[in-house]
Formats: sequence, C-alpha cells, structure tokens
Amino acid sequence: MEIYTTISEIKEFIKSKKLVGEKIGFVPTMGYLHQGHLSLMKEARQDNDIVIASIFVNPTQFGPDEDYDEYPRDLDRDAELAAEVGVDAVFAPEADEIYDSGAATTIQVEGLTDKLCGACRPGHFTGVCIIVSKLFNIIAPDHAYFGQKDAQQVLVIKRMVKDLNFDLEIVIVPIVREEDGLAISSRNKYLNQEERTAATVLYNSLELARELIEQGENKAKVVENKMVEMIKEEPLAKIDYVEVVKQETLESVTKIKDKILIALAVYIGGTRLIDNVMLEV
Ligand code: PAJ
Repeated sequence: MEIYTTISEIKEFIKSKKLVGEKIGFVPTMGYLHQGHLSLMKEARQDNDIVIASIFVNPTQFGPDEDYDEYPRDLDRDAELAAEVGVDAVFAPEADEIYDSGAATTIQVEGLTDKLCGACRPGHFTGVCIIVSKLFNIIAPDHAYFGQKDAQQVLVIKRMVKDLNFDLEIVIVPIVREEDGLAISSRNKYLNQEERTAATVLYNSLELARELIEQGENKAKVVENKMVEMIKEEPLAKIDYVEVVKQETLESVTKIKDKILIALAVYIGGTRLIDNVMLEV
C-alpha cells in the first residue's frame, strides 16, 4: 500500500488507474482508524478496483475551543490497519498542502446545517463541506463511503453533491458498535474507565426510545423526555441535544410517523459523543 502526502502524487496515481478504466472507491477519514472506518473500507473494497482512504484531521471543521490539537493521530498504525483491509493508497497530507493561506471560498448548505450538531457547532459543516469537496476534486472517485454514525453529515454531503453536480455516488454504511452498544468513535479514546461505562447511556436511551415507539408511543416529546430522564440519571453525562426529527429534512416532529431519526449529542465528562437510530413507523 502506498502513502501519498502531496496532491500531485495522489493525482498521478489516480490518473494511471483511471487510464486503464479502473473504478475508484474513496473513504475520507480523520484517522485513528477503528472498526467503524474499517467497515467503510471493506465495503469500498467489494465495490471498486481501487480503494483510496484519506487521513486528514481537518482544522476548518473544529471550533476554536474544540479538540483539534488533542485529536488522536497515529499514521503508522492507521496505514497498517488500512493495508490489512485492502486499501490501495492512503492520502495523508499536511494542512498546508490542502489549505492556501489566501483561501476565500466557503460552502454553506442552507437549512440542514442549522439543526442538531450544526446548531451546537457553528461553522462545523462548512469546514466539512470544504474539505470533502476538495477531496472529491482531488480524488475524483466513482463511489465515496460515509458512516450513518454521522447522520447529519451524510445528509449535508448528499445535498452538496446534488447541488454542485459532483459526479459520484455516495454509499452509506451502518453504525458499527461495541458489544455493549456504544457507537465506535475515535473520541472514545478520551474516556477513562468510569466514563466509558457511563457512555453506554447514549445507546441505552436510543434503545429505550425504540421500545417506547414499538409499544405504540407516538408523541415525540414523550419519547424525548424519557430519554432525557434516563440520561440525567447518569451523573457523568451532560446533554447537548436529544431530538426526534424527520429523516430527510431534520425538522422536528411532534407526532412520530413515517421515517424518523432519533439523534443525540451528550458530553460524557469532557468528551462530546453522538449517536442516532433511524426508524420507520
Ligand atoms: P471521521 O470521524 O474520522 O469519520 C470518517 C468516516 O467514518 C465518517 O463517514 C464516519 O461517519 C465514519 N464512522 C465513524 N465511526 C463510525 C462507526 N462507528 N460506524 C460506522 N461509520 C463510522 O467524519 C469525519 O471523519 C470527517 O468529518 C470527514 C468526513 C473525514 C471530513 O473531514
């Protein structure tokens, strides 16, 4: 497996593959790879001739008080894991290879980005859209793989791809979880043992919501309140948001019907974790 750090090198590699008609699958990541990332790569391996993963902790999607500096990084370990699942090339640039000091263009996906994580993390999705569109332009993949774990990110990227006519297909991969239900995340590394145990409250509250809805509860407020109650019983947890919304638009619902997304962001100690479940009622 090759590791490229410059745009010109990775483009040359891709050009040689495209010339012989090979299909490119692309998995963008911020590294510190885990089973969630690897499931995207395995899926890409099945659908494409060439699989490229990017590893880039993107500064523009972090707020000034967020964890850009502490975000875990380990390129050697990542390269080993990526090679094991059949990735052909890793693109791991430095920030100054990607961002010109005079950069002046932003991408704003209206509406979808006002809600959920967008409301709590101003500018986050603009940073995500900028980096993902740059990577799409550099790699020019046939398929690009994203995890359902970041449900809002998936919707924003899909909207951007449609609006800007990116010539590629977005493939969504289900959430990979630990045995006790905790969604796997690079940020789980920040949790100490006590926090790691407390973190199961995110998944448990989603399961509670699922059970309530399966038993016939159709008022979103009732479901949200019961989830909040459960999370508040965990002393290490602090809620950022808990919401039942429409799957396609992320608008709040009062009555639970059709395709809904239950999404939450909760601080466990100092670590902000997100999770979600999609249901069709
Ligand atoms: P990162 O958090 O590294 O995640 C990279 C991809 O892995 C995303 O599509 C994410 O949804 C997926 N992923 C993470 N944990 C997962 C899990 N437990 N199950 C399934 N998929 C999972 O998301 C980003 O990076 C960045 O915003 C990025 C798109 C790379 C732009 O910088």
